[in-house]
Amino acid sequence: MCGIVGYIGKKECTEVLLNGLSKLEYRGYDSAGIAVFDSKSKDIKTIKAKGRLKDLNDKLKTEGGLKGNCGIGHTRWATHGEPSDINSHPHGNARVTIVHNGIIENYKKLKEFLESQGYVFESQTDTETVAKLLDYYYDGKDPLECIKEVINEIEGSYALGILFKDFPDTIYAVRKDSPLIVGKGENESFIASDVPAILKYTKDYYLLDEDEIAVLDSSGVRFFTKFGKQIDKEVLTADFDEESAAKGGFEHYMLKEIYEQPNAIKMTVTPRISNGMPDFSESGLTDEMLNGYKRIFIIACGTAMHAATVGKYVIERLARVPVTVDLASEFRYRNPILSKQDLVILVSQSGETADTLAALRLAKNVGAATMGIVNVKGSSIARESDIVLYTHAGPEISVASTKAYMVQIAMFYLLAFKLAFIKKTISKDECKRLVSVICKVPEIIEKVLELSDTCSYVASKLISSENLLYIGRGLDYALSMEGSLKLKEISYIHSEAYAAGELKHGTISLVTEQMPVVAVATQRELFDKTMSNIKEVKSRGAKVVLITHKCMSVDEEAADYVIKLPTVDDMLMPMIAIVPLQLIAYYSSVLRGNDVDKPRNLAKSVTVE
Ligand code: F6R
Repeated sequence: MCGIVGYIGKKECTEVLLNGLSKLEYRGYDSAGIAVFDSKSKDIKTIKAKGRLKDLNDKLKTEGGLKGNCGIGHTRWATHGEPSDINSHPHGNARVTIVHNGIIENYKKLKEFLESQGYVFESQTDTETVAKLLDYYYDGKDPLECIKEVINEIEGSYALGILFKDFPDTIYAVRKDSPLIVGKGENESFIASDVPAILKYTKDYYLLDEDEIAVLDSSGVRFFTKFGKQIDKEVLTADFDEESAAKGGFEHYMLKEIYEQPNAIKMTVTPRISNGMPDFSESGLTDEMLNGYKRIFIIACGTAMHAATVGKYVIERLARVPVTVDLASEFRYRNPILSKQDLVILVSQSGETADTLAALRLAKNVGAATMGIVNVKGSSIARESDIVLYTHAGPEISVASTKAYMVQIAMFYLLAFKLAFIKKTISKDECKRLVSVICKVPEIIEKVLELSDTCSYVASKLISSENLLYIGRGLDYALSMEGSLKLKEISYIHSEAYAAGELKHGTISLVTEQMPVVAVATQRELFDKTMSNIKEVKSRGAKVVLITHKCMSVDEEAADYVIKLPTVDDMLMPMIAIVPLQLIAYYSSVLRGNDVDKPRNLAKSVTVE
């Protein structure tokens, strides 16, 4: 959470910084600010404001703007201290000014020390401690030495952009457990929390490793280890451009990303099929390795955890290998029983989620095999996992995840098919058949997207409710969890997902005319059971939305609104049935007048615990 940027070059940096921040607002939007080396005085000048980037823009206009070719910027997701002008970044003084993404865990102790040295704090942030600590160690001569001292003392996560007044037109940057890239342009350099922030200017970038320090000035970029040794780094090139990271005519990123799902599946699945069979050899995942795992743990947060739940159902059903799904924030503190024969799969769009990363490190410490299913190339989880299977969703900008979920489940299907074939629980022919079915899914989703108006109509019938239930059984329950999360996070309607058979053990007492129920029933062997549960809620006055297969016959009075989907194998129905759930959530948010892509209190990349 929080996004940082920095620019040194020939352009007016305010414009470059604001453009970069606009691409990072998904990481937090409680406040924003920039600090620039004033082109005349070479003093560091800062302007910051509570609120969105637009508020910063207004303030810049009122205060006459900032002129210069080198500066840093920040968009904040508040952790320590409420959103306010004073808590906004950049922080620091006339000598040292910084922007920070992450959390300094020992800031209280450091603050006490600095106060004992006469420093006076203005904000409630942990970041101000780093700014003052840099000032404390800075002797006016060597910024690198000062940064080395500071990173030895601070604990927690950080990506820092730093300006020292005595070194005009130079940016220093360092990171640990928070992402940071260094962009390489023609006579200009950048720092950014994520690649889209630099794409307008360059596709070339370096990945900064843990505790590496970058120095950006008019001669280019130099890199140093935390011991001060200069190092060379490989230049990477982004495999998407500015346009693919833009809205492309859609009203919101979320809608665009829902419509990108067919292509995202093709990009993720097609390169992993060889002679009609799933093939992971390019990622170094061999049949022997897959055959050797005794148990599988899948660890993730939020939407990625819901994808993991679909993964559990299909792997267990097809390959008969026991799978445990855990929330990363629980797993890391429950002292899990792991062994060297276990495979721990970490699922993450961003590849930077703090709890998922901590779970990965815990698994590695006990010697379990680790596999990341990750969307963002070169992210921490991708780099630290033994094996990485990249999903190819392209950049996902909307805070509410859609296409990343879709490709995560696509990856689990391929893994399940492969594992089942290796474990001899399905034949080669069956494996090939399943692969051919998943290859048809993109086409079928195109058809489901034609139901957009129906989903908008259904949403219009739900938005006056304050509470909602999602129900389903088996894979439909896994899907209901995601449908429910999607709705609540962007429409702010409270909703819960329940296993349909579990309702009568307590929750059904909540069901009244005021509590609509969205029922997902795509699993034929469970259809009659779910229909009975639907009758139970209907007879208690609930308005029911039913999502099912085209081929199922449904009594007219069974549900108030029925969304009938094209039919594929029941096992693959989550890839089809998630689409109307995403669209219902999307239109509910639009109809309620919410900020769809930037829901309140949230941020896209959760780099704090
Ligand atoms: C919800 C959503 C979140 C993320 C979760 C994990 O729409 O996007 O629940 O799924 O924060 O993020 P990643 O996948 O980046 O680890």
